[in-house]
Amino acid sequence: KRQGIRFDDQVAVVTGAGQGLGRLYALELAKRGAKVVVNDLGGARDGSGQGSSTPADKVVEEIKALGGEAVASYDSVSTPEGGEAIIDKAVEAFGRVDILINNAGILRDKSLTKMEASEWDAVMSVHLDGAYNVTRPAYIKMRENGYGRIIVTTSAAGLYGNFGQTNYSAAKMALVGFMNSLKLEGEKNGIKINAIAPIAMTRLTEDILPPDLSEKLKPEFVTPLVMFLCSEQCPVTGSIYNAGMGYYNRAAIVTGPGVVLGDGQTIPTAEEIARNSKNIASLEGAAECYSITAALGDMLNAVGKPVLKTPPKSGDQTVSRVF
Ligand code: NAI
Repeated sequence: KRQGIRFDDQVAVVTGAGQGLGRLYALELAKRGAKVVVNDLGGARDGSGQGSSTPADKVVEEIKALGGEAVASYDSVSTPEGGEAIIDKAVEAFGRVDILINNAGILRDKSLTKMEASEWDAVMSVHLDGAYNVTRPAYIKMRENGYGRIIVTTSAAGLYGNFGQTNYSAAKMALVGFMNSLKLEGEKNGIKINAIAPIAMTRLTEDILPPDLSEKLKPEFVTPLVMFLCSEQCPVTGSIYNAGMGYYNRAAIVTGPGVVLGDGQTIPTAEEIARNSKNIASLEGAAECYSITAALGDMLNAVGKPVLKTPPKSGDQTVSRVF
């Protein structure tokens, strides 16, 4: 019945959708048939200020002008009440939630010694607490329908590191941990959760990314991958994707094959560790573990006590290591 990637009869919530990447996600979802909750508190780049309903309202108007359906939500993702209110809005207006894109974000860049606790907390509360606050009520609704697509927005700063962003990097990488566990909880309920690490010129990055690349760094390049991950066709869960400038790839946490030291009875010395450090650190033949059970299974296999069975594989990205 459906041609291509469509979201007819589906309801999508996009946080921080008043501008930048979130606005583009909201517009494209609506163009493809979704009813959209455009959430944005309309604050400054560092999350300060009174907030404003204007950015969210403008995107709702844009969607309506295209013949789509949308409502605005001005609540902050940074409190549990805000998260509940955002999802309540979706249910009141459209009756359900199928898609949640956790996209709202702020920056408070400082090198660690200059970073005040308030700057740490503000970034954690929007990115990390925000994902919990909105995803939890959304997940409850998705579970009722046995279907859901959730996106968390991580960052190359978290995956790889960036000077002056310990708060932001920690929050962004924490979202990968959030995804890793929630993907397992979502399996039985038809709920898939994936992470996107965008690179795009927006208000957030206009003085961070090289200005001469601004034409190349169109945020529009990120949208198609996010649409795919939000779609019924999405075959993966628990995956991380980089997207920018038309370049798309997957990042993953892999585990090296390692070595077993000793007989499992005697504790190896620090000197033995030093002597074997190259082999311990080797990533040759490294692979992903789909869950802690898989990782523990690999460990037990390595020490010669295959007690745990590798759990059933789900998602085509699963690679299990065989010793
Ligand atoms: P942006 O600044 O253009 O948009 C972020 C939006 O989130 C703003 O409209 C802001 O008002 C809203 N927002 C902030 N705090 C909020 C809160 N508590 N509740 C509701 N809305 C809130 O930034 P951009 O670039 O579009 O960023 C979107 C996401 O992508 C963020 O999570 C960001 O960390 C992430 N990201 C962006 C990158 C880039 O290159 N632009 C790189 C890596 C990650």
